Amino acid sequence: MHTINTILDLRRHLDMCRAAERTVGLVPTMGALHEGHASLVRRSVKENDVTVVSIFLNPTQFNDPKDLERYPRTLEADCRLLESCGGDVVAFVPRVSEMYPDPDLRHFSYPPTDSVMEGAFRPGHFNGVCQIVSKLFTYVMPDRAYFGEKDYQQIAVIRRMVADLEFRLQIVPCPVVRDESGLAMSSRNSLLTPEERALAANIYRVLKESIVLGATVRDTHDYVVNTLNAIPGLEVQYYNIVDGDSLADVSEWDEAEHVVGCITVYCGATPIRLIDHIRYK
Ligand code: PAF
Repeated sequence: MHTINTILDLRRHLDMCRAAERTVGLVPTMGALHEGHASLVRRSVKENDVTVVSIFLNPTQFNDPKDLERYPRTLEADCRLLESCGGDVVAFVPRVSEMYPDPDLRHFSYPPTDSVMEGAFRPGHFNGVCQIVSKLFTYVMPDRAYFGEKDYQQIAVIRRMVADLEFRLQIVPCPVVRDESGLAMSSRNSLLTPEERALAANIYRVLKESIVLGATVRDTHDYVVNTLNAIPGLEVQYYNIVDGDSLADVSEWDEAEHVVGCITVYCGATPIRLIDHIRYK
């Protein structure tokens, strides 16, 4: 594993790799790496000759400055975790001034995919994600880019952007990695106290229970929201049962080929915002 900090050095290195016909995988991250990220890196190492892991806390995707301020920063531990993944891995760790020498004035809009759920509650979030991910795709020109399915909506938005901008690469969605309690791994989990972690485990438990209810879409929705809201310390911000491709709401199970429930819950005193999802079909 070695570290590169500038776009110029990254491009030079990758030009040499491509000249030697080596394939390139990209794992975009904001650091605070955990086992979920490690699973993406290991998959990329298996499927590509070179893996670029970007570690960049992207300011343009945070609509709440407090959220950006308290986002965990753990670069040394991140590098150790990347070392442990083996393979030919480059950590790309640019400064903000490197990625944004000038304000990025581009505006991306892919409704309804980017306007519902996270898009509605975090205005500008997906615009910032598209800004940074499009820059990374342009600089790295990966053959494959790996994203965790925990951020289910993010993958749907990035797919739309890839089609729109005609990037020639494959998006590889990777399964959610969960801890033993079922809690989806997230960099934000490190901000939870042990008691809040135990509370947060209820999210996936209740989502799983809702599959076996065999109820209507409306009743399934209400079961998830009411059960979680009844637990002190948890508050559901939204629970949308949607077409798994367009992310438009569904009111009947047979309205779409894939149906997914996407949830965001506030957990604990701070509170920490946690997202998860479940596939119904
Ligand atoms: O999923 C994330 O960590 C971020 O949204 C991403 C894709 C690295 C862009 O900053």
